Amino acid sequence: MKFLVVSDIHANPEALSAVLGDALQEDCRGFLCLGDITGYGPDPDACVRLVLAQARDAEMAFVLSGNHDAALTGKIPVEWFNAHAQRSVQYTRSVISEASVEWLDSLEHTARLDNATWASHGSPLEPLTGYLWGGLETAIVFSWMTDSEFSLCFCGHTHEAALYYGKARKKVIAPAPGDAAVFSDVPAIVNPGSVGFPRTFNGAKAAVRKGRVPPVSRASYPAYYAIWNQTERTVSWREVRYDRRPLEERLSRAGL
Ligand SMILES: [Fe+2]
Repeated sequence: MKFLVVSDIHANPEALSAVLGDALQEDCRGFLCLGDITGYGPDPDACVRLVLAQARDAEMAFVLSGNHDAALTGKIPVEWFNAHAQRSVQYTRSVISEASVEWLDSLEHTARLDNATWASHGSPLEPLTGYLWGGLETAIVFSWMTDSEFSLCFCGHTHEAALYYGKARKKVIAPAPGDAAVFSDVPAIVNPGSVGFPRTFNGAKAAVRKGRVPPVSRASYPAYYAIWNQTERTVSWREVRYDRRPLEERLSRAGL
C-alpha cells in the first residue's frame, strides 16, 4: 500500500491543498500525518478539516499531533516556544473551534505503523520536543530502533526533508525532490519536510539549475511531502509549488 506522508502543515491550507492535489496521481490508499497541523499559519480549522477528510477517505490513516497542536491545550507550556511561536499559539487559540481543539487533543504523538515502522512528530524518544538533525541524538534513536526492532522511522518537526540511515550518525542525506530510497533492515529515519512552513528549500537550487523547477518566489513557493510504498519499502520525496501571496496577506492581517 502507498501512503501519502505529510508533516508540519502549520495552518496553511493553500500548501496542503496543493499537496493533496499533486498526490492524487499516486493513488495513495494510506495517509500518515506527522503533526503540527496548526501553528504559525492563519487557518487552523481549514487544515483540520482537510486532514480529517483525507484520513476518513483513506483505507488506513495515522494522524499524530505535534508540539504546536499540544500547546493549544497546555500539554506543552507556551513558554517553551520562541516569541514568534508564542504569538502564533495565542492567535490559534483565539480563532480555532472547540471541536478542532478536542480532536487535536485526542491524537497520539507516536504510532506503530507496522512491525518494522514507527512514526512520531519529533524524536521517538521525545516526540513533542526532540529534534533529529543527524547528530548524537539521532545515533541514540538508531540504538533504540535496533533494540525495538524498527528499521524505519518517520519524523517531522525540523521542517527539513531528510534521510538518516546506517548505524554511523554521519550518513545523512538532504534529499532533493524526486529522490527516492529503498530500505532494507538497516535502520533509517525519514523526514518528509514541511508542507506549510519549510525552513530550507531542499534541493531547490540544484533543481532550478537543472531547469526542473522555477526559482522559489512567493508566487511559486514549495510545499514538501513524501510517498511511502509500504509494500515495496521505498520512500520518494516530493515538492509541489503554490502561490503563497494570498496566505501572506492573511498572515499580515492577523499580525503573524
Ligand atoms: Fe512544526
